[in-house]
Amino acid sequence: MRYAKRIFNFILKNNKFYIVIIVVLLLIVIFQWMVPGYYDYNQISTLVYCDKNPSDQHRYLLFPMVTIVFDGGLGNQLFEVFSLLGLALKLNRTAIFNSEDWILHSKLNLLREQVPQVAERVISIPIEIPESSRFIYSPACCHFQFSPLLSCEQSKYLVIDGHYFQSHKYFSSIETSIRKWLNPPQEEEKLLKKMIRRKDEFRFKICVHIRRGDFLTDSQHAGTASNFTIRAVDHLYTQHPGLVYLFSNDPGWVREKIAAHLDYQSDVKVMETSEAIKDLYFAQIHCDAVLITAPSSTFGWWLGYLSKNQSSVYYRDIQETEDMVKHQMVEEDFFPSTWKKLGMSQNGLIISK
Ligand SMILES: *[C@@H]1O[C@H](CO)[C@@H](O)[C@H](O)[C@H]1NC(C)=O
Ligand SMILES: *[C@@H]1O[C@H](CO)[C@@H](O)[C@H](O)[C@H]1NC(C)=O
Ligand SMILES: *[C@@H]1O[C@H](CO)[C@@H](O)[C@H](O)[C@H]1NC(C)=O
Repeated sequence: MRYAKRIFNFILKNNKFYIVIIVVLLLIVIFQWMVPGYYDYNQISTLVYCDKNPSDQHRYLLFPMVTIVFDGGLGNQLFEVFSLLGLALKLNRTAIFNSEDWILHSKLNLLREQVPQVAERVISIPIEIPESSRFIYSPACCHFQFSPLLSCEQSKYLVIDGHYFQSHKYFSSIETSIRKWLNPPQEEEKLLKKMIRRKDEFRFKICVHIRRGDFLTDSQHAGTASNFTIRAVDHLYTQHPGLVYLFSNDPGWVREKIAAHLDYQSDVKVMETSEAIKDLYFAQIHCDAVLITAPSSTFGWWLGYLSKNQSSVYYRDIQETEDMVKHQMVEEDFFPSTWKKLGMSQNGLIISK
């Protein structure tokens, strides 16, 4: 009591100063309250169990959509959205975004602008906490895991609380639809066809994906190595002479470290596109072969997956690189079985593995 009194007196004596502090604190509280935070999935029960009596109520499936909430690139976002759609089909549920997750909804622009026909496949509705179950799910980035328990879990909303979902096995059942949704619109297709001169129309086209930038500094991924890339492009060009298109997020580096060292420079084009989706359109129309030089890049992966011939997609053996993702990658879950792994020997010879 005495203390309270003393504090009270003290406040009265120094009232101006304290009023300012109290007002500032109040403002901070109001601000915190108004600016939405991350959605708290921990409030959802983790009781997931198998109920063999199927209910006939409509059921929904959602992920926290970590790659969107934390501003992942288009490649990462596509993996998560298609895995959600693929699993929803498998579980006879409707794929949804949690409409009460404000941060998620403030970041849907990339999907909505670049792949509207994909974004509109997932509706946003609120979830009812008492009717929801949360399945905690933490395999590594590129590891396919499916628990049969999920098939007989009957709660109305099922949250698979994991991230990345980087395996084509999650969405193999909707592969045809995915290819259709990502098809270039007609005007784009016309523009793309015009990009190739008539005399080059029927030449073999090798598309190379090169990743630098963030991959060099994030201590997770390893960027493209120039020595491997030059040798591997030579290797593919020798098998199929034609045109070589170099895609990257660092065209300056590509010109200096790759293009300048190739002997057939008149056949080499360094691409500079502003939007990721445009490169994916190009792959569908033009790429007869794809070489992925930074094997953990999801964007390189999509370039390969959408290209014309799934037996002509080549990727660098991740085990030969310093890429930290190699420690969690399950290669057969990440790379389609028709793709081809390339390595490089000590003396720079390219070998099929
Ligand atoms: C799928 O769910 C619906 C309810 O949304 C239900 O009527 C239907 O029987 C289910 N189909 C299968 C194969 O379980
Ligand atoms: C696809 O690639 C494989 C391997 O390079 C080749 O044998 C096959 O002829 C190609 N198919 C088409 C349709 O080009
Ligand atoms: C390729 O370059 C990397 C790093 O720049 C080096 O460690 C490696 O030994 C080189 N490999 C060959 C075969 O020259």
